[in-house]
Amino acid sequence: MPWQILVLNGPNLNLLGTRQPDVYGSDTLDQIMSELADYATSRDVALRTRQSNAEGELIDALHDARGWADGVVFNPGAYTHTSVALRDAISAIELPVVETHLSNVHAREEFRHRSLLSAVCLGVVGGFGRHSYVVALEGLLRHLSDRAATDRPGDDRA
Ligand code: DQA
Repeated sequence: MPWQILVLNGPNLNLLGTRQPDVYGSDTLDQIMSELADYATSRDVALRTRQSNAEGELIDALHDARGWADGVVFNPGAYTHTSVALRDAISAIELPVVETHLSNVHAREEFRHRSLLSAVCLGVVGGFGRHSYVVALEGLLRHLSDRAATDRPGDDRA
């Protein structure tokens, strides 16, 4: 069975394409997710994508993922820097989550340098524009593949 991955996008990412293109590029979220879906197909991975501007809906999506997903690629937007509730949700679901940003948050305003989420994520990717999602997904797949090989020698799904 292919890996099942949730790609979750937080607040204001629905505005990509017109939102600060100098920082985030000119591709829309649909274009970025469609490119990622093509990559996922080439890696035999099943993706579900979701975007919400509401913190509670992002929490619900993480809780729901516990029932079906093998891992999560998550761009939490500005909640990265503020949300204890999202941090608790990531800890609670016990799935590998990759914190993903289009921009290099460390090269931006100081308030973006702190993430409340990184410490409970598998890894962090940022600064590669739309390619950040592909890098994050590939890292997650390699992690899942390594873990499967350790758990069940011979499993070569990824
Ligand atoms: C972002 C970085 C955050 O600081 C910002 O609030 C966003 C987008 C990124 O993808 O670079 O909304 O997560």
